[in-house]
Amino acid sequence: MESKSRQVTGQILTQLFELHQTSPQNQPGDSKQITGYCEPLSLRAGEQIQWFGSSHVPTSGQLDLVRLDCGDPTRSGPGFAEHPLESFSALDIELGEQPLVPGSFAETVLPAVDPKTVSISFWFQPTLLKRDGVIASIHSKGAAIEILNKGEYLFGRFGATEFLLRERPLERRRWYFLRLNIELTRRRVTAMVTTPQSTSPGRDLLQMGEDTKEFEIPDIAFNEIVFRLAAGVEGGRWDGRIAEPEIVIDEAAYIWSFADDMEAAVLESVGGAAELAFHQLPARGVTGPHWSGEQQRWSEASDQWNAVHFHHDDLYDAGWSPTLTFDLPEDLPSGIYCFRYQGDAGIDRVPFFVRPAATAVHSDIALLMPTCTYMAYANHRMLIEGADFVGARSNLRPEHRYLAEHRDLGLSHYEKHPDGSGVMFSSRRRPILQLRPGADGWNFTPDTDLNAFLTHLEVNHDIVSDEDVHTDGLAALAPYRVIVTGTHPEYWSTAMLDALEEWQRNGGRLMYLGGNGFYWRV
Ligand SMILES: [Fe+2]
Repeated sequence: MESKSRQVTGQILTQLFELHQTSPQNQPGDSKQITGYCEPLSLRAGEQIQWFGSSHVPTSGQLDLVRLDCGDPTRSGPGFAEHPLESFSALDIELGEQPLVPGSFAETVLPAVDPKTVSISFWFQPTLLKRDGVIASIHSKGAAIEILNKGEYLFGRFGATEFLLRERPLERRRWYFLRLNIELTRRRVTAMVTTPQSTSPGRDLLQMGEDTKEFEIPDIAFNEIVFRLAAGVEGGRWDGRIAEPEIVIDEAAYIWSFADDMEAAVLESVGGAAELAFHQLPARGVTGPHWSGEQQRWSEASDQWNAVHFHHDDLYDAGWSPTLTFDLPEDLPSGIYCFRYQGDAGIDRVPFFVRPAATAVHSDIALLMPTCTYMAYANHRMLIEGADFVGARSNLRPEHRYLAEHRDLGLSHYEKHPDGSGVMFSSRRRPILQLRPGADGWNFTPDTDLNAFLTHLEVNHDIVSDEDVHTDGLAALAPYRVIVTGTHPEYWSTAMLDALEEWQRNGGRLMYLGGNGFYWRV
């Protein structure tokens, strides 16, 4: 008996993992063109949701809403099952391309009226010198100055003219202090690059010291100045860390400290005269130029964790225009739903999770969709690039082939940035190719098998997501006598675990149907 059930389990697993790649007979001719995402991912009946769609080729098609009972197309499952929502009449929608512009950076806009002098200084630590990038820039209409690395060399671009700012090559992961004094009326620039002692005496022989250069620059006139870190005037993102940026426009000085307000997306300058906004979520609270190595966490000495780490492939929010804004009906039953777009260029489904309206009758049983785990794996590239527990595969499904062809979709926690640093943040405000029925043998698709199983049992179960538990705590679980987990509820926040524990102590009964669950903290 046991060997029989083991055999069946083996078959199911094999078939699910075959979802990681498509069979040769099944190979679709055309590549995937349509993607999208929605906001929020989890909501209550009666609340508002937005769908953001994009197609690489202009296309017309129909959007409808489907209830997804089972998103598993394999033979071992109960069979793919979705039902269009009768209360939502399909809409004719033309889709064009919405762009993805990854790369974290910081930006502020400063008043300036034809200034005579502009001085910029900051610490920088390059982490990816094999890629050219713009470390900082200032511009206004018709005027631009960029500080950039071209391979291992540091350049300044003043209008159309470029100068080498330091004769010696830069070294990856070493801190440099740059001061650029720009005398616009005299058309003179002084560039000073200081390299303090590091913990590598040998490398210090090649790198330590101060390099000063002076140049004559073309005529450049600024009015309002846009000052950016890790970004150029047009694109030009950069990989590395920056600390203690300062800009002085004539007599007006603006300085930002990155040592406080670690969660802030907008930082006031010291004195509050200007706001620096972070875009696409660079990593805050990372070690800066004065880190002694004696403290091991930012909260112990935040002045030593005063750097910001930028990556050219960070993507927090695709920022597309909503294609549809829609209020869910108050009486919509709790469940897994998808925006389904079917057009000339193909089909795409964007799932979301619906709880009952707050005032509605709740079921005794809820399936807890592990959305934190979905986020951790979002757009993972393990099947493309391989990982320690799975080899790279050929013959990929369209969703994975799409990921292989589009690096601009942002990474998952299972990858590293090209500079070797870990991916700290994952986001749902972008297309997530595996969060689609049948797209991947992990997580979402097998979780819909559990949904189909509970549907088959006719226990009238509700759907709840990790986000609901994180946000609402115990209140999200309290209506239920039984919570059924997903197949891989791996990532939990403290708030989620606290809520679950309290709910269990109050008599709640947990059915843990996953593997490798309750493992990482988010
Ligand atoms: Fe996992």
